[in-house]
Amino acid sequence: MSFDDMDVDSIWMDGEFVDWDEAEIHVLTHGLHYGTGVFEGVRCYDTADGPAIFRWEEHLQRLYDSAKPYDIDIPFEPDELTEATVELIRREGLDSCYIRPIVFYGYDMLGLHPGDCPERVAIAAWPWGAYLGEDALENGIDVMISSWRKHASSQIPTNSKTTGAYVNSVLASLEATDNDYREALILNKEGNVAEGPGENLFLIRDGEIYTTGLSESILDGITRRSVIEIARDLGYTVHDQATISRGELYTADELFFTGTAAEVTPIRSVDDTQIGAGTKGPVTDDIQSAFFNIVENQPAEYDDWFYPVER
Ligand SMILES: Cc1ncc(COP(=O)(O)O)c(C=O)c1O
Repeated sequence: MSFDDMDVDSIWMDGEFVDWDEAEIHVLTHGLHYGTGVFEGVRCYDTADGPAIFRWEEHLQRLYDSAKPYDIDIPFEPDELTEATVELIRREGLDSCYIRPIVFYGYDMLGLHPGDCPERVAIAAWPWGAYLGEDALENGIDVMISSWRKHASSQIPTNSKTTGAYVNSVLASLEATDNDYREALILNKEGNVAEGPGENLFLIRDGEIYTTGLSESILDGITRRSVIEIARDLGYTVHDQATISRGELYTADELFFTGTAAEVTPIRSVDDTQIGAGTKGPVTDDIQSAFFNIVENQPAEYDDWFYPVER
């Protein structure tokens, strides 16, 4: 959905609310030229107890952690960013929405070393439905192995959600779409499975669950963490530091993606090879149902995963 079709009036920027159309930056902004920014993607769900931000503290922590390798000193305390976000959701009257906090080096000069470029901070929020579509959640998606490899963490820290690093995801997405696939799956430098352009991967074999380990050049996904916990709570064995070879994908019983945007999305084929029955498998269904039950109903056992937005 285009921003032009959306009815949100303001964005929080550097400590104040500004009109959506006036949330602008200079064309010589450091972050624009060199990708020196870090960001988050967070969802607020319209739960049975009212709007609540899913795993807000974890996302906020990851934002501050992402900033560390780049010496980005976020000029606001976590509490201030929390207050700004909650206030933004409130004033825009949003029930469920996607939240995009971003911090980047601003305008001063354009040496590679950011020098005295100020750290700029913005938080936007807007309504956003199923990222890969409702049909994808129900019937699964067709993915292709990208010809682009994921950069290693020794090249660009993959546990930091760095704006510039996302050109890798953009290349993989473009290639997948140009070849009529819904999404890409990216291998790491070693040729093992890393992740999707904006998703982590889970594999099911013989009733047990595997997901690529943190040393496989992946983002430490917060949905990944949540799904690991949900699956264990449901009684599944989860191998959460797995190395998954390309070949294992084709013979998996089930595969699915997780992500804030993608939520829990089944994968029905890889490179035109059908996975399992070619539809949402039973384990995926079990976990997806539990996930949506949690984000819709905010059950007491998972209460601490939510940050309420009081009206
Ligand atoms: C590269 C990449 N991997 C995985 C994920 C999933 O992470 P999360 O569940 O925290 O959204 C994302 C989305 O942020 C991502 O961009």
